[in-house]
Amino acid sequence: MIRVKDEIKFVRDNVKEHTTWFEESIPLIASENIISPLVREMLATDFHNRYAEGVPWKRYYQGNLYVDKVEERANELGKKLFDCAYCDTRPTSGTAANIAMFFKFAKPGQTYTSCNVADGAHISSAKFGAAGVRGLEEVTYPFNVDEMNIDIDGTIKVIKEAKPKIALFGMSVFLFPTPLKELQEAFDETECTVWYDGAHVLGLIAGGEFQDPLKEGAHILTGSTHKTLPGPQGGVVLGNPRDKKMEDKMNYGVFPGVLSNHHLHHMAGKAIAFAEAMEFGKDYAKDIIKNAQALAQALHEAGFKVLAEEHGFTKSHALVMDVSEIGGGTPLVEALEEANIITNKNLLPWDPANKALNPSGIRLGAQECTRLGMGTQEMVEIADIFKEICIDKKDPKVVRERVRSFKKEFTKVHYCYNDGANPYEYIDIAGNI
Ligand SMILES: Cc1ncc(COP(=O)(O)O)c(C=O)c1O
Repeated sequence: MIRVKDEIKFVRDNVKEHTTWFEESIPLIASENIISPLVREMLATDFHNRYAEGVPWKRYYQGNLYVDKVEERANELGKKLFDCAYCDTRPTSGTAANIAMFFKFAKPGQTYTSCNVADGAHISSAKFGAAGVRGLEEVTYPFNVDEMNIDIDGTIKVIKEAKPKIALFGMSVFLFPTPLKELQEAFDETECTVWYDGAHVLGLIAGGEFQDPLKEGAHILTGSTHKTLPGPQGGVVLGNPRDKKMEDKMNYGVFPGVLSNHHLHHMAGKAIAFAEAMEFGKDYAKDIIKNAQALAQALHEAGFKVLAEEHGFTKSHALVMDVSEIGGGTPLVEALEEANIITNKNLLPWDPANKALNPSGIRLGAQECTRLGMGTQEMVEIADIFKEICIDKKDPKVVRERVRSFKKEFTKVHYCYNDGANPYEYIDIAGNI
């Protein structure tokens, strides 16, 4: 027989243990981040309990007076932050934003061009992923593995030949800006919709420290609001639509296209995250990139094969290592996890598909450690800890003590209001039941 209170205790205890584990760990997954106290506050409000289908001031439900005010402001803040004409904060994830655009900008059987998943693109851009829902034909760009970027001449040729309805760019292993300006002649010739998936690099774009895809030829910018942009889990559609018809497609793709209700508490959190990014985003983006480059350099000096050495390893928050000669992705990320270092294994462009369970790569991101107040000195120490585990093959359980003591100094959130608040605090609203 189920004892309900025991079940609830099980859930709460495990969430608490998870939080303590992360408090004692070094977080290096390139797609994650921690939210500010103000964003966190929004997530536990009555906005969570409500419905608001449609757009501000044109709803299908009553009770949206304050929701409309906040959503209108959220979209205005997004437009200001990204210096563009259009912002929709409703998508519940980056993937939902992407499906909405696929839905409205190409019809079944039509072609879109995209980066290859094996080269680091996200599954939502692949035919076997979210793009497949629309029954579109995918043609991928050639990739230059030395530069860890799409090949410009090859991509121009692919776009001119495929004549896609959509030319999609952006990746999950996003080390360098996409050469959009260089592709403009192909965009002009084919009159395709140019769409940039900036899920990973949204915070760097907002901070003015990566590229500005909307000034470099893209009409649409989609993204996640919880990676380098440290807001609540969710997505966003931004852009400079060519005309009202295009704007309508962007709007109706989201609702009624792929959403019914959006998540109003997250929408309010996005408004706060955008506002905080206006104040703190430039410094944060600069420091993220500085740290990613310092971590890559230190890992390289410690004996790791960090990709794109000749190009300075990275111009973003992320870096990638080939660890095939020192044990392979899976055993190493497991050993790192045992030592409280949280990372992910990654297929590298030259890995055969059957290596997915033990790929050659490990991907790292510096955005969360930066937000916790770490600087380049800490990146050097992290590289040394990696060496102990992956190269010197020290017992991860022993190294874990070094990680725990190192992390004690970095348990506060920065680059936001209430700087120095503890993001690992379990807020006990319900008390004992
Ligand atoms: C390039 C890219 N697009 C889209 C997504 C999906 O974002 P979400 O997890 O918000 O659905 C990701 C996730 O990592 C991504 O890397």
